[in-house]
Amino acid sequence: MYRKVRTAVVGCGMISNIYIKNLKDLFSIIDLVAVGNRSMAPAEEKARTYGIGRVMTVDEIAAAEDIELVVNLTPAFSHYDVIRKMLLAGKHVWTEKTLAVTVEQARELVEIANEKGLYLGVAPDTVLGAGLQTARRAIDTDMIGAVTSGVAVVNRDQALNSEYFTFLRGNGGCLPYDVGVYYIGALVSLLGPVEAIRAFGAPAPLHEPQFLYANAEAEPWRIPGANVLSASLRFECGALVSVLFDGNTVNATQHDITLFGTRGVLKVGDPNAFNGPVTLIYADQPPCVLPFTHGYDGVNTLAPTPFDHYGHRGVGVAEMAYAIRAGRPNRCGKEYGLHCLEVLAGMEQSAATGRTVEPVSRFKMRPLAPGYYSSFMGGTGRADAEKSLVD
Ligand SMILES: NC(=O)c1ccc[n+]([C@@H]2O[C@H](COP(=O)([O-])OP(=O)(O)OC[C@H]3O[C@@H](n4cnc5c(N)ncnc54)[C@H](O)[C@@H]3O)[C@@H](O)[C@H]2O)c1
Repeated sequence: MYRKVRTAVVGCGMISNIYIKNLKDLFSIIDLVAVGNRSMAPAEEKARTYGIGRVMTVDEIAAAEDIELVVNLTPAFSHYDVIRKMLLAGKHVWTEKTLAVTVEQARELVEIANEKGLYLGVAPDTVLGAGLQTARRAIDTDMIGAVTSGVAVVNRDQALNSEYFTFLRGNGGCLPYDVGVYYIGALVSLLGPVEAIRAFGAPAPLHEPQFLYANAEAEPWRIPGANVLSASLRFECGALVSVLFDGNTVNATQHDITLFGTRGVLKVGDPNAFNGPVTLIYADQPPCVLPFTHGYDGVNTLAPTPFDHYGHRGVGVAEMAYAIRAGRPNRCGKEYGLHCLEVLAGMEQSAATGRTVEPVSRFKMRPLAPGYYSSFMGGTGRADAEKSLVD
Protein backbone atom coordinates (compact mmCIF):
# COMPACT_ATOMS: atom_id res chain seq x y z
CA MET A 1 0.00 0.00 0.00
CA TYR A 2 2.86 2.37 0.90
CA ARG A 3 6.40 2.43 -0.48
CA LYS A 4 8.83 1.26 2.23
CA VAL A 5 11.01 3.94 3.85
CA ARG A 6 14.72 3.27 3.32
CA THR A 7 16.29 3.59 6.74
CA ALA A 8 19.72 3.54 8.41
CA VAL A 9 20.60 3.16 12.10
CA VAL A 10 23.38 5.32 13.58
CA GLY A 11 24.71 4.15 16.96
CA CYS A 12 25.17 0.40 17.32
CA GLY A 13 25.26 -0.04 21.09
CA MET A 14 23.06 -1.97 23.48
CA ILE A 15 19.63 -0.57 22.57
CA SER A 16 20.30 -0.94 18.83
CA ASN A 17 19.74 -4.72 19.21
CA ILE A 18 15.99 -4.44 19.76
CA TYR A 19 15.60 -1.53 17.32
CA ILE A 20 17.42 -3.36 14.51
CA LYS A 21 15.49 -6.56 15.12
CA ASN A 22 12.11 -4.80 15.16
CA LEU A 23 12.85 -2.41 12.28
CA LYS A 24 14.11 -5.25 10.12
CA ASP A 25 11.49 -7.92 10.84
CA LEU A 26 8.45 -6.42 12.59
CA PHE A 27 7.47 -3.26 10.68
CA SER A 28 6.76 -3.79 6.99
CA ILE A 29 6.91 -0.03 6.26
CA ILE A 30 10.65 0.05 7.09
CA ASP A 31 13.43 -1.12 4.80
CA LEU A 32 16.52 -1.18 7.06
CA VAL A 33 19.36 -0.94 4.57
CA ALA A 34 22.40 0.19 6.60
CA VAL A 35 23.97 0.51 10.04
CA GLY A 36 26.71 2.92 11.13
CA ASN A 37 28.63 3.87 14.24
CA ARG A 38 31.46 6.22 15.20
CA SER A 39 33.86 3.25 15.30
CA MET A 40 33.07 0.62 12.71
CA ALA A 41 33.48 -2.61 14.71
CA PRO A 42 30.08 -2.37 16.55
CA ALA A 43 28.31 -1.64 13.25
CA GLU A 44 30.00 -4.60 11.56
CA GLU A 45 28.99 -6.83 14.45
CA LYS A 46 25.30 -5.73 14.28
CA ALA A 47 25.26 -6.12 10.49
CA ARG A 48 26.55 -9.70 10.86
CA THR A 49 24.19 -10.58 13.71
CA TYR A 50 21.02 -9.20 12.12
CA GLY A 51 21.84 -9.57 8.42
CA ILE A 52 21.98 -5.89 7.41
CA GLY A 53 23.41 -5.30 3.94
CA ARG A 54 25.54 -2.19 4.35
CA VAL A 55 27.95 -0.94 7.05
CA MET A 56 28.61 2.78 6.59
CA THR A 57 30.33 5.67 8.33
CA VAL A 58 28.12 8.44 9.69
CA ASP A 59 29.25 10.72 6.83
CA GLU A 60 28.50 8.04 4.24
CA ILE A 61 24.97 7.66 5.64
CA ALA A 62 24.47 11.45 5.49
CA ALA A 63 25.65 11.46 1.86
CA ALA A 64 23.69 8.38 0.72
CA GLU A 65 20.97 9.57 -1.65
CA ASP A 66 18.83 6.47 -1.27
CA ILE A 67 18.53 6.71 2.55
CA GLU A 68 15.46 8.71 3.61
CA LEU A 69 15.31 8.15 7.35
CA VAL A 70 18.05 7.93 9.99
CA VAL A 71 17.41 6.34 13.39
CA ASN A 72 19.78 7.93 15.91
CA LEU A 73 20.66 5.56 18.78
CA THR A 74 23.76 7.38 20.07
CA PRO A 75 24.01 8.63 23.68
CA ALA A 76 22.08 11.81 24.52
CA PHE A 77 25.19 14.02 24.46
CA SER A 78 25.79 13.04 20.79
CA HIS A 79 22.20 13.65 19.68
CA TYR A 80 22.54 17.31 18.67
CA ASP A 81 25.55 16.70 16.37
CA VAL A 82 24.14 13.57 14.73
CA ILE A 83 20.60 14.94 14.26
CA ARG A 84 21.85 18.30 12.93
CA LYS A 85 24.14 16.60 10.43
CA MET A 86 21.40 14.31 9.16
CA LEU A 87 18.75 17.06 8.93
CA LEU A 88 21.15 19.31 7.02
CA ALA A 89 21.80 16.36 4.70
CA GLY A 90 18.04 16.22 4.01
CA LYS A 91 17.21 13.08 6.05
CA HIS A 92 14.18 12.55 8.23
CA VAL A 93 15.40 11.63 11.73
CA TRP A 94 14.07 9.54 14.59
CA THR A 95 16.10 9.87 17.80
CA GLU A 96 16.27 8.05 21.07
CA LYS A 97 15.49 10.28 24.04
CA THR A 98 16.19 13.03 24.72
CA LEU A 99 16.00 15.27 21.64
CA ALA A 100 19.18 17.02 22.84
CA VAL A 101 20.69 17.82 26.23
CA THR A 102 19.72 21.52 26.23
CA VAL A 103 16.48 23.23 25.25
CA GLU A 104 18.42 25.68 23.05
CA GLN A 105 19.92 22.83 21.02
CA ALA A 106 16.53 21.14 20.76
CA ARG A 107 14.85 24.34 19.55
CA GLU A 108 17.53 24.75 16.87
CA LEU A 109 16.95 21.17 15.66
CA VAL A 110 13.18 21.75 15.52
CA GLU A 111 13.77 24.94 13.51
CA ILE A 112 16.05 23.16 11.03
CA ALA A 113 13.49 20.37 10.58
CA ASN A 114 10.71 22.96 10.07
CA GLU A 115 12.74 24.98 7.58
CA LYS A 116 13.65 21.91 5.57
CA GLY A 117 10.22 20.28 5.80
CA LEU A 118 11.66 17.14 7.41
CA TYR A 119 10.22 14.80 10.02
CA LEU A 120 11.95 14.62 13.39
CA GLY A 121 10.60 12.00 15.78
CA VAL A 122 11.61 11.48 19.40
CA ALA A 123 11.44 8.63 21.94
CA PRO A 124 9.95 7.60 24.32
CA ASP A 125 7.68 5.67 21.97
CA THR A 126 6.41 3.55 24.86
CA VAL A 127 3.55 6.10 24.81
CA LEU A 128 2.33 4.25 21.68
CA GLY A 129 2.39 0.93 23.56
CA ALA A 130 -0.62 -1.04 24.78
CA GLY A 131 -0.41 0.17 28.39
CA LEU A 132 -0.29 3.90 27.79
CA GLN A 133 -2.72 3.82 24.84
CA THR A 134 -5.21 1.91 27.02
CA ALA A 135 -4.78 4.53 29.78
CA ARG A 136 -5.29 7.29 27.22
CA ARG A 137 -8.50 5.62 26.01
CA ALA A 138 -9.76 5.31 29.58
CA ILE A 139 -9.24 9.06 30.08
CA ASP A 140 -10.56 10.06 26.65
CA THR A 141 -13.72 7.98 27.12
CA ASP A 142 -14.34 9.69 30.46
CA MET A 143 -13.87 6.60 32.66
CA ILE A 144 -12.41 8.68 35.52
CA GLY A 145 -14.01 12.06 34.75
CA ALA A 146 -11.77 15.14 34.68
CA VAL A 147 -8.24 14.50 35.97
CA THR A 148 -7.71 16.85 38.91
CA SER A 149 -4.31 15.68 40.14
CA GLY A 150 -1.72 12.92 40.04
CA VAL A 151 1.55 11.47 41.26
CA ALA A 152 4.55 10.21 39.27
CA VAL A 153 7.51 8.56 41.03
CA VAL A 154 10.64 6.68 40.01
CA ASN A 155 13.93 5.95 41.79
CA ARG A 156 17.25 4.28 40.98
CA ASP A 157 20.92 4.28 41.96
CA GLN A 158 22.00 6.21 38.89
CA ALA A 159 25.67 6.52 39.97
CA LEU A 160 26.00 2.75 40.33
CA ASN A 161 24.23 2.28 36.98
CA SER A 162 26.75 4.63 35.36
CA GLU A 163 29.48 2.06 36.13
CA TYR A 164 27.93 -0.16 33.45
CA PHE A 165 26.11 2.33 31.19
CA THR A 166 29.10 4.65 30.86
CA PHE A 167 27.18 7.21 28.76
CA LEU A 168 25.22 8.07 31.93
CA ARG A 169 28.33 9.88 33.23
CA GLY A 170 27.85 12.61 30.59
CA ASN A 171 25.25 15.33 30.03
CA GLY A 172 21.74 13.90 29.92
CA GLY A 173 22.73 11.00 32.20
CA CYS A 174 21.05 12.10 35.45
CA LEU A 175 17.94 10.14 36.44
CA PRO A 176 15.35 12.78 35.47
CA TYR A 177 16.65 13.01 31.89
CA ASP A 178 17.53 9.33 31.44
CA VAL A 179 14.52 7.72 33.14
CA GLY A 180 12.22 10.53 34.29
CA VAL A 181 11.63 11.37 30.63
CA TYR A 182 9.48 8.20 30.34
CA TYR A 183 7.25 9.57 33.13
CA ILE A 184 7.05 13.05 31.61
CA GLY A 185 6.36 11.50 28.18
CA ALA A 186 3.59 9.36 29.69
CA LEU A 187 2.02 12.25 31.61
CA VAL A 188 1.99 14.67 28.66
CA SER A 189 0.72 11.98 26.29
CA LEU A 190 -2.20 11.39 28.69
CA LEU A 191 -2.91 14.92 29.92
CA GLY A 192 -1.46 17.26 27.27
CA PRO A 193 1.04 20.08 27.79
CA VAL A 194 2.41 21.43 31.08
CA GLU A 195 1.90 25.17 31.64
CA ALA A 196 3.79 25.79 34.91
CA ILE A 197 6.46 24.12 37.07
CA ARG A 198 7.82 24.61 40.60
CA ALA A 199 10.59 22.32 41.87
CA PHE A 200 13.36 21.50 44.34
CA GLY A 201 16.45 19.49 43.37
CA ALA A 202 19.72 17.95 44.52
CA PRO A 203 22.88 16.93 42.61
CA ALA A 204 24.31 13.43 42.28
CA PRO A 205 27.01 12.45 44.79
CA LEU A 206 30.65 12.21 43.75
CA HIS A 207 30.84 8.53 42.77
CA GLU A 208 33.82 6.47 43.93
CA PRO A 209 34.34 3.77 41.30
CA GLN A 210 33.48 0.29 42.53
CA PHE A 211 35.40 -2.90 41.78
CA LEU A 212 33.19 -3.42 38.77
CA TYR A 213 33.48 -3.31 35.01
CA ALA A 214 37.23 -2.44 34.96
CA ASN A 215 36.43 1.00 36.40
CA ALA A 216 38.36 0.58 39.66
CA GLU A 217 41.26 2.68 38.37
CA ALA A 218 39.03 5.52 37.16
CA GLU A 219 38.86 8.91 38.85
CA PRO A 220 35.65 9.55 40.82
CA TRP A 221 32.92 11.16 38.73
CA ARG A 222 29.71 13.07 39.31
CA ILE A 223 26.75 12.69 36.96
CA PRO A 224 25.95 16.24 35.80
CA GLY A 225 22.62 17.92 36.53
CA ALA A 226 20.02 17.51 39.27
CA ASN A 227 19.80 13.79 40.07
CA VAL A 228 16.90 14.28 42.48
CA LEU A 229 13.95 16.46 41.50
CA SER A 230 10.71 17.00 43.35
CA ALA A 231 8.27 19.11 41.38
CA SER A 232 4.72 20.25 41.07
CA LEU A 233 3.43 20.46 37.48
CA ARG A 234 0.30 22.34 36.48
CA PHE A 235 -1.10 21.02 33.21
CA GLU A 236 -3.08 23.13 30.76
CA CYS A 237 -6.05 20.80 31.39
CA GLY A 238 -5.99 21.94 35.03
CA ALA A 239 -4.46 18.79 36.60
CA LEU A 240 -1.84 19.31 39.33
CA VAL A 241 0.75 16.49 39.33
CA SER A 242 3.46 15.84 41.93
CA VAL A 243 6.61 14.39 40.38
CA LEU A 244 9.49 12.76 42.28
CA PHE A 245 12.60 11.50 40.48
CA ASP A 246 15.31 10.22 42.86
CA GLY A 247 18.57 8.97 41.31
CA ASN A 248 20.46 9.07 44.63
CA THR A 249 18.89 6.01 46.20
CA VAL A 250 18.96 2.24 45.59
CA ASN A 251 18.11 0.10 42.59
CA ALA A 252 14.90 -1.08 44.22
CA THR A 253 12.85 0.76 41.67
CA GLN A 254 9.42 1.91 42.83
CA HIS A 255 7.52 3.29 39.90
CA ASP A 256 4.13 4.84 40.17
CA ILE A 257 1.86 6.95 38.04
CA THR A 258 -1.53 7.55 39.65
CA LEU A 259 -4.08 9.94 38.18
CA PHE A 260 -6.98 11.14 40.32
CA GLY A 261 -10.19 12.08 38.51
CA THR A 262 -13.56 13.48 39.53
CA ARG A 263 -15.16 10.01 39.15
CA GLY A 264 -12.30 7.52 39.49
CA VAL A 265 -8.61 6.83 39.90
CA LEU A 266 -6.31 5.36 37.25
CA LYS A 267 -3.01 3.64 38.02
CA VAL A 268 -0.63 3.32 35.08
CA GLY A 269 2.18 0.74 35.02
CA ASP A 270 5.88 1.23 34.22
CA PRO A 271 6.03 3.81 31.36
CA ASN A 272 9.47 2.44 30.38
CA ALA A 273 7.64 -0.71 29.26
CA PHE A 274 5.00 -1.34 26.60
CA ASN A 275 2.74 -3.47 28.78
CA GLY A 276 2.39 -1.57 32.06
CA PRO A 277 -0.95 -2.67 33.56
CA VAL A 278 -3.69 -0.05 33.77
CA THR A 279 -5.86 -0.26 36.87
CA LEU A 280 -9.19 1.48 37.30
CA ILE A 281 -10.36 2.23 40.83
CA TYR A 282 -13.85 3.37 41.77
CA ALA A 283 -15.20 4.03 45.26
CA ASP A 284 -16.16 0.97 47.36
CA GLN A 285 -15.30 -1.59 44.67
CA PRO A 286 -12.28 -3.82 44.05
CA PRO A 287 -9.68 -2.33 41.65
CA CYS A 288 -10.05 -3.55 38.08
CA VAL A 289 -7.15 -4.18 35.68
CA LEU A 290 -8.34 -3.03 32.25
CA PRO A 291 -7.82 -5.29 29.23
CA PHE A 292 -5.54 -3.65 26.68
CA THR A 293 -7.45 -1.85 23.94
CA HIS A 294 -4.38 -1.61 21.68
CA GLY A 295 -1.48 -3.64 20.30
CA TYR A 296 2.26 -3.18 20.85
CA ASP A 297 2.14 -4.85 24.24
CA GLY A 298 5.82 -5.84 24.15
CA VAL A 299 5.10 -9.52 23.44
CA ASN A 300 7.76 -10.83 21.05
CA THR A 301 6.36 -12.78 18.12
CA LEU A 302 9.70 -13.07 16.28
CA ALA A 303 12.66 -15.38 16.99
CA PRO A 304 13.68 -14.81 20.63
CA THR A 305 16.78 -12.76 21.55
CA PRO A 306 18.23 -11.63 24.93
CA PHE A 307 16.91 -8.09 24.28
CA ASP A 308 13.20 -8.89 23.98
CA HIS A 309 12.36 -7.31 27.34
CA TYR A 310 12.85 -3.95 25.57
CA GLY A 311 9.58 -4.75 23.82
CA HIS A 312 8.27 -2.93 20.79
CA ARG A 313 10.87 -0.14 20.67
CA GLY A 314 10.84 1.25 17.15
CA VAL A 315 7.04 1.55 16.94
CA GLY A 316 7.50 5.35 16.89
CA VAL A 317 9.83 4.99 13.89
CA ALA A 318 7.25 2.93 11.99
CA GLU A 319 4.45 5.34 12.89
CA MET A 320 6.62 8.21 11.62
CA ALA A 321 7.36 6.31 8.40
CA TYR A 322 3.60 6.05 7.71
CA ALA A 323 3.25 9.76 8.55
CA ILE A 324 5.98 10.57 6.01
CA ARG A 325 4.18 8.61 3.30
CA ALA A 326 0.77 10.06 4.18
CA GLY A 327 2.06 13.61 4.71
CA ARG A 328 0.45 13.89 8.15
CA PRO A 329 2.08 14.82 11.52
CA ASN A 330 3.71 11.94 13.41
CA ARG A 331 2.57 11.27 16.97
CA CYS A 332 5.94 11.22 18.77
CA GLY A 333 6.95 14.35 16.88
CA LYS A 334 9.53 17.06 17.43
CA GLU A 335 7.08 19.25 19.38
CA TYR A 336 6.42 16.36 21.80
CA GLY A 337 10.18 15.78 22.18
CA LEU A 338 10.83 19.47 22.71
CA HIS A 339 8.03 19.74 25.27
CA CYS A 340 9.35 16.74 27.27
CA LEU A 341 12.81 18.33 27.34
CA GLU A 342 11.41 21.76 28.26
CA VAL A 343 9.54 20.22 31.19
CA LEU A 344 12.65 18.39 32.44
CA ALA A 345 14.84 21.48 32.01
CA GLY A 346 12.09 23.61 33.57
CA MET A 347 12.12 21.38 36.66
CA GLU A 348 15.90 21.83 36.94
CA GLN A 349 15.64 25.57 36.34
CA SER A 350 12.88 26.04 38.90
CA ALA A 351 14.91 24.07 41.46
CA ALA A 352 17.98 26.22 40.77
CA THR A 353 16.20 29.61 40.82
CA GLY A 354 13.29 29.05 43.19
CA ARG A 355 10.97 30.51 40.54
CA THR A 356 7.99 29.19 38.59
CA VAL A 357 8.94 28.13 35.05
CA GLU A 358 6.41 28.17 32.21
CA PRO A 359 7.28 25.95 29.23
CA VAL A 360 6.54 27.71 25.94
CA SER A 361 6.32 24.71 23.58
CA ARG A 362 2.98 23.03 22.91
CA PHE A 363 2.05 19.82 21.09
CA LYS A 364 -0.90 17.55 20.30
CA MET A 365 -0.72 13.75 20.16
CA ARG A 366 -3.62 11.87 18.60
CA PRO A 367 -4.28 8.44 20.14
CA LEU A 368 -3.84 5.34 17.98
CA ALA A 369 -6.96 3.59 16.70
CA PRO A 370 -8.05 0.87 19.16
CA GLY A 371 -8.87 -2.74 18.35
CA TYR A 372 -5.63 -3.83 16.67
CA TYR A 373 -3.43 -6.35 18.48
CA SER A 374 0.17 -7.51 18.13
CA SER A 375 -0.39 -11.19 18.78
CA PHE A 376 -2.98 -13.93 19.10
CA MET A 377 -3.01 -17.59 20.19
CA GLY A 378 -1.41 -16.69 23.53
CA GLY A 379 1.41 -14.70 21.96
CA THR A 380 2.47 -17.40 19.49
CA GLY A 381 0.84 -15.84 16.43
CA ARG A 382 1.54 -12.41 15.01
CA ALA A 383 -1.46 -10.10 14.52
CA ASP A 384 -1.61 -6.90 12.55
CA ALA A 385 -1.19 -4.02 15.00
CA GLU A 386 0.81 -2.23 12.29
CA LYS A 387 -2.52 -1.20 10.73
CA SER A 388 -3.08 1.07 13.75
CA LEU A 389 0.02 3.06 12.74
CA VAL A 390 -1.16 3.92 9.23
CA ASP A 391 -3.47 6.93 9.89
N1 LIG B 1 20.52 1.31 27.64
C1 LIG B 1 19.18 1.31 27.73
O1 LIG B 1 18.55 0.55 28.50
C2 LIG B 1 18.40 2.25 26.88
C3 LIG B 1 17.05 2.04 26.80
C4 LIG B 1 16.33 2.90 26.02
C5 LIG B 1 16.94 3.95 25.39
N2 LIG B 1 18.26 4.16 25.50
C6 LIG B 1 18.84 5.31 24.82
O2 LIG B 1 19.44 4.89 23.61
C7 LIG B 1 20.63 5.62 23.35
C8 LIG B 1 21.80 4.67 23.25
O3 LIG B 1 21.84 3.86 24.42
P1 LIG B 1 22.77 2.55 24.44
O4 LIG B 1 22.47 1.88 25.73
O5 LIG B 1 22.60 1.77 23.18
O6 LIG B 1 24.23 3.21 24.47
P2 LIG B 1 25.64 2.51 24.07
O7 LIG B 1 26.68 3.33 24.74
O8 LIG B 1 25.57 1.04 24.33
O9 LIG B 1 25.71 2.71 22.48
C9 LIG B 1 25.85 3.95 21.87
C10 LIG B 1 26.61 3.76 20.55
O10 LIG B 1 26.65 5.01 19.87
C11 LIG B 1 27.96 5.20 19.34
N3 LIG B 1 28.20 6.64 19.20
C12 LIG B 1 28.40 7.55 20.18
N4 LIG B 1 28.51 8.78 19.64
C13 LIG B 1 28.39 8.64 18.30
C14 LIG B 1 28.42 9.54 17.22
N5 LIG B 1 28.58 10.85 17.40
N6 LIG B 1 28.26 9.04 15.96
C15 LIG B 1 28.07 7.73 15.76
N7 LIG B 1 28.05 6.81 16.75
C16 LIG B 1 28.19 7.27 18.02
C17 LIG B 1 28.89 4.53 20.35
O11 LIG B 1 30.12 4.19 19.74
C18 LIG B 1 28.05 3.30 20.74
O12 LIG B 1 28.31 2.18 19.89
C19 LIG B 1 20.73 6.65 24.48
O13 LIG B 1 20.11 7.85 24.07
C20 LIG B 1 19.92 6.02 25.60
O14 LIG B 1 19.38 6.98 26.47
C21 LIG B 1 19.01 3.30 26.19
